[in-house]
Amino acid sequence: MNDVIAIDGPAASGKSSVARALAARLGWNFVNSGAVYRAFTWAVLQNGTDPADESAVEAVAGELEVTGGLEDGESWVAARGARLGPELDAPETNRAVSLVARVPVIRERAVEQLRGHAMSGPLVMEGRDIGTVVFPDAPWKFYIDASEEVRQSRRAAQGLVDQVAERDRVDSSRKTAPLAVADGAVVIDSSNLDINGVVAAILDHMRAGGFVAAGEAGA
Ligand code: CDP
Repeated sequence: MNDVIAIDGPAASGKSSVARALAARLGWNFVNSGAVYRAFTWAVLQNGTDPADESAVEAVAGELEVTGGLEDGESWVAARGARLGPELDAPETNRAVSLVARVPVIRERAVEQLRGHAMSGPLVMEGRDIGTVVFPDAPWKFYIDASEEVRQSRRAAQGLVDQVAERDRVDSSRKTAPLAVADGAVVIDSSNLDINGVVAAILDHMRAGGFVAAGEAGA
């Protein structure tokens, strides 16, 4: 398996922007694991299945065609054969995603797809359970937090309707792979840091732990 940097944290803590910037800096692949759960959610909604009905979601999970891959260093997801874009962040997807993501059979399929990306090269993956479940042996694990107030205002500034606190509640209290700080993860509070500040903090921790980025050897 290739090298993995696992980044977890609550909704709108800045994980995606940080993970994308970090991956670009290192020349590694970037995988947004939430997009896979969002793609399953979109498929559930298209199917006319009630996302709040756990056994109904479980019953249709096997029929949902959700696939993904890597292109130009970033992950993409598709459902019913079409790549998904803005529909992944639609208000109805935001409302339903934590309900769909709590269903174990959905998680099994997502985790299998996500682990596959590590075959293609070193990667930065962000989500809720990357350091705890998807890559528990990842050499580098981070948990990015920010106050709820800051997280709400970041999401609002993106012009998105999102139930940040409600998603956190469901994500942290579910039985399977709840949001939690992984053993050995470094916790970074990003409330007063911008994206570059968090990326710098991550790289500082990694260098202190002996990491040498390609191109930096001997520098
Ligand atoms: O918008 P934000 O970055 O906070 O969320 P996301 O990473 O797009 O994830 C959307 C939702 O997918 C989360 O609220 C979780 O319910 C679920 N998710 C998960 O269960 N496990 C992951 N590894 C990633 C996301």
